[in-house]
Amino acid sequence: MKRDFLTFWDLSKNEVESILERAACFKAGNTGNKNALSGKSIGLFFEKSSTRTRVSFEVGIYQLGGQPVYIRSGDSQVGRGESISDTAQVLSRYFDGIIVRTYAQVRLDEFAKYSTKPVINGLSDTHHPCQVLADLLTIKERKGKLQGIKLTYLGDSNNVTNSLIEASIRMGMVLSIASPAGFEPKPAMMKKVRDLDNQKIKIYNDPVEAVKQADVVYTDVWISMGDEETGQQTKKDALKPFQINDALLTHANPDVTVLHCLPAHRGEEITDTVIDGPMSAVFDQAENRLHTQKALLEMLIG
Ligand code: CP
Ligand code: NVA
Repeated sequence: MKRDFLTFWDLSKNEVESILERAACFKAGNTGNKNALSGKSIGLFFEKSSTRTRVSFEVGIYQLGGQPVYIRSGDSQVGRGESISDTAQVLSRYFDGIIVRTYAQVRLDEFAKYSTKPVINGLSDTHHPCQVLADLLTIKERKGKLQGIKLTYLGDSNNVTNSLIEASIRMGMVLSIASPAGFEPKPAMMKKVRDLDNQKIKIYNDPVEAVKQADVVYTDVWISMGDEETGQQTKKDALKPFQINDALLTHANPDVTVLHCLPAHRGEEITDTVIDGPMSAVFDQAENRLHTQKALLEMLIG
């Protein structure tokens, strides 16, 4: 039976822990079986731009002995109207697994429904679970554990935020989200949170309150891919007080770690001094995409 990774819920706590351990081995150069994907071809079907996700998957697949094949959807027949269901049925006859970067989660779900091979979410409008695997490894490297860590996310409540919510509940982190009114997580996500674990996820409209005692602070762009059309300036004005800067960080723990999934809009959601400063782990975080995704591929497709 094929295993997909469409949202963070698709992995159990034990599986996430195994992935993080295996990723740390890959990072240390202790790779064991280097040929988990030997003789296998993995597709990357992307409908949005990417630097990290595309390259870390392509390099990781190569390092595991497999062949990555990148398909930009606009250059495929999907760009001329071929359906996702037909495309998924065809591609899964060639590939052993497919990483999909797309818009609505239902489009990804449709792809997974018709694919006979594992489908991995390489980012949708509402989830970015591969990113969060790398985030967890980075937090573990810096703080030694995940359980009980206070993580504060500041800014627009987006795909990364949703995956952080799911991962925090799964792994026992305490997550505070600080967003301006109107940009908090969507009611459907918060209903799920209330049903599962009301205690560990807190929503604030005040960034200073939210970062108090934070072990880790995290932000992302204010305007996500696909989000570019809608009232950008009003949104940016509302988000200004949520910028991660030196003044805001004085309210966090003195040894706070700063994360950003990248790409960053320096001077908007984060300042140069913070992203390039001693608290920043953002480039380790970007590197960790490679190690965690290799462990994920080995588990799902190897
Ligand atoms: N963080 C991330 O997913 O980056 P890319 O958009 O460059 O893949
Ligand atoms: N929220 C951002 C993440 C980019 C990696 C976006 O969807 O554009």
